[in-house]
Amino acid sequence: MALMFLSRKYKFALCFLFLVMFCLCKGQDSPLSPMDKKEQEVIYSVIQGFVGKWWNGSDLYPDPCGWTPIQGVSCEQYDDGFWYVTAINLGPVFDNSLTCSHDAKFPEQLFKLKHLKVLSLSRCFLSSNQNPVKLPISNWDKLSDSLECLTLRSNPGLVGTIPTKFGSLRKLQSLVLLQNGLTGKMTPSIGNLVRLRQLVLSGNYFVGEVPVNYGRLSELLIFDASRNSLSGSLPSTIGFLDSLLKLDLSNNMLEGELPREIGRLKNLTLLDVSHNKLRGGLFGGHNDFVNLKDLVLSNNPIGGDLLGIKWENFQNIETLDLSNIGLIGSVPESITKMNRLRYLDLSNNSLSGSLSSNLDNMPCLRALHVNGNNLTGKLNFSEGFYIKMGRHFAAWNNPNLCYITKPRNQIPYGVKPCL
Ligand SMILES: *[C@@H]1O[C@H](CO)[C@@H](O)[C@H](O)[C@H]1NC(C)=O
Ligand SMILES: *[C@@H]1O[C@H](CO)[C@@H](O)[C@H](O)[C@H]1NC(C)=O
Ligand SMILES: *[C@@H]1O[C@H](CO)[C@@H](O)[C@H](O)[C@H]1NC(C)=O
Ligand SMILES: *[C@@H]1O[C@H](CO)[C@@H](O)[C@H](O)[C@H]1NC(C)=O
Ligand SMILES: *[C@@H]1O[C@H](CO)[C@@H](O)[C@H](O)[C@H]1NC(C)=O
Repeated sequence: MALMFLSRKYKFALCFLFLVMFCLCKGQDSPLSPMDKKEQEVIYSVIQGFVGKWWNGSDLYPDPCGWTPIQGVSCEQYDDGFWYVTAINLGPVFDNSLTCSHDAKFPEQLFKLKHLKVLSLSRCFLSSNQNPVKLPISNWDKLSDSLECLTLRSNPGLVGTIPTKFGSLRKLQSLVLLQNGLTGKMTPSIGNLVRLRQLVLSGNYFVGEVPVNYGRLSELLIFDASRNSLSGSLPSTIGFLDSLLKLDLSNNMLEGELPREIGRLKNLTLLDVSHNKLRGGLFGGHNDFVNLKDLVLSNNPIGGDLLGIKWENFQNIETLDLSNIGLIGSVPESITKMNRLRYLDLSNNSLSGSLSSNLDNMPCLRALHVNGNNLTGKLNFSEGFYIKMGRHFAAWNNPNLCYITKPRNQIPYGVKPCL
């Protein structure tokens, strides 16, 4: 009797379980986050365009904005009650990320996603021989009311020029075209994107000058066009980038002088123009780089000397790299007044005269490179200085320099003891 009761209870439990499962399954048939049917087909075909024909979205992801989210795709609900795709991130970011196929294309359907805010494709177009892909020329204006962030990164197979139509993406805040195979000039139309806060064009094959009208980007915080083949001189309008924090134009073929208007950029923390062909001496003393932390001018035929500059005004500077820029004259005492300086590189110039023993008293200095100059006199640093610096003190290739012998065993490499 007791047994029968138990088993009846068991049967009931089983039924209940089936009922629950049935309801759940039933629930899974109808999307929790309904999409406009067209939008749903569009996202399937867009993703398929990137990841390949094998990918059957309607099979795998019946409710893409709800209980079967597509990796890297985000949605938001809009006023009409439907859910729309707002972000697509493809590329090997997480273990389960969707990655592009070897014959990936830019699907035309992409431009039908009218609420798309973020598009990010990394390692998507990999071969400029087997599958060279160009950015679509037209249709970008269809994303002009939505697109805020466009990131195309590490796509060596992405070739051709930046479409002029990018200039219609007026909501764009971040444009990152990093390490692709893009060529041609940096299109002036980018100067229309006045909401941009980040513009990264680094590691492509861009040529020509930095367009004058980029000076309109007054909200820009980061401008990085390093590692291209840019030429000509920098436009003075660069001084209108009032908000700029980081300016990196290193590894190009820029000529002429650094425009003195750069000195207007009060919030600048990083200025890197190393490995170019800049001339004209160090800035004319009118600069007020109060916030500058990293100043990297190395490998340019800049010339001139260190004497005309009030180094004591650079109170926030941490990195100062003036290596191989053709400097002459002596190293002024004021250099030792930069209290936050950690890294000072003056190597491979034609500096002469002696080094102040006050370099020893700089509170933050951890690296000092003065090798490859024509310094003379006696290095008069404490034992502690050499220990603190270790391998980061370089003074070799100064034929007429010597060091005052101190008791212990730290000696500056490549420098002879004073007689
Ligand atoms: C995807 O799967 C559905 C359902 O199994 C099928 O009807 C459809 O033809 C498939 N689509 C593609 C592109 O393979
Ligand atoms: C510079 O930075 C300060 C402090 O962060 C900020 O208040 C100011 O608005 C910035 N200036 C510009 C022109 O962006
Ligand atoms: C300085 O010149 C030497 C010899 O030409 C070179 O090996 C070294 O890399 C240069 N250092 C820098 C920082 O450019
Ligand atoms: C180095 O300086 C000495 C004088 O201290 C000078 O005689 C010599 O010509 C200089 N060498 C170079 C290469 O400038
Ligand atoms: C080295 O510097 C110390 C003070 O730091 C000073 O007393 C000494 O005279 C200096 N020696 C030479 C040879 O300049």
